[in-house]
Amino acid sequence: MAEVVLTRTADEASALAAAHVAREIAARPRLVLGVATGSTPEGFYRHLARCLAAEGTDTSGVRAFALDEYVGLPADHPESYAAVIDRTVTMPLGLDPAHVHVPDGRAADPFAAAVAYDRAIDAAGGVDIQILGIGRNGHIGFNEPGSSLGSRTRVKTLAASTRDANARFFTDPRDVPVHCITQGIGTIREARHLILLAFGADKSTALAGAVEGPVSASLPGSAIQLHPHVTVLADEDAAQKLTQAEAYREAWALKPAAQSF
Ligand code: PGA
Repeated sequence: MAEVVLTRTADEASALAAAHVAREIAARPRLVLGVATGSTPEGFYRHLARCLAAEGTDTSGVRAFALDEYVGLPADHPESYAAVIDRTVTMPLGLDPAHVHVPDGRAADPFAAAVAYDRAIDAAGGVDIQILGIGRNGHIGFNEPGSSLGSRTRVKTLAASTRDANARFFTDPRDVPVHCITQGIGTIREARHLILLAFGADKSTALAGAVEGPVSASLPGSAIQLHPHVTVLADEDAAQKLTQAEAYREAWALKPAAQSF
């Protein structure tokens, strides 16, 4: 069972997660952080930048790997995940850009780039902490419903619902790419600690399925149940369909190692 931490607001959850990750980075200067894009982790990155700056933590040794990237966006497109990660992670956290990796969506051979990405994660020693959001359809990374729970980083086709959800980031909805490179669910499961953030009522069905539903490729987020070290942080709106919310609150309040993941 994942550890589920329920907070009143998304900001509280983001601050808790950031405080934890900042402590881990201070303790392990070469930590490998798995980073997600989307709206969900934006507050987490802001809090993390503040915590690191407040402590004067040296982040020059931290390595980062993004979950996914669109295939075929021009190099200068502001919504490529390379650009988003640069804006929201690399610059605010003061990471060395040479240590920040995003799947190469502009590679002449994206299939080979996907295989190379898994090798690069292995060569870095694997991901220590993976930050995850969850899609309304239950996807993690861009692993849409039906993705194998053992899948590796590969080229995938985005679900129409995901393209619709992400159209808000593009001036013309027709510009949302059809294909992506995403870490596989098997790749994600190899990270040593998964931190899944879910905020807002429109995530409540996916979150309940991921945490309490059957493990199923139909809801890729449910793969977290197969992982030995998962922390789920959710605000009240996202938590509203969890049936065991009281038990999660009690377990967190009575946790032997107070407020630590
Ligand atoms: P969001 O996306 O954070 O923008 O809601 C999450 C996801 O699709 O994984």
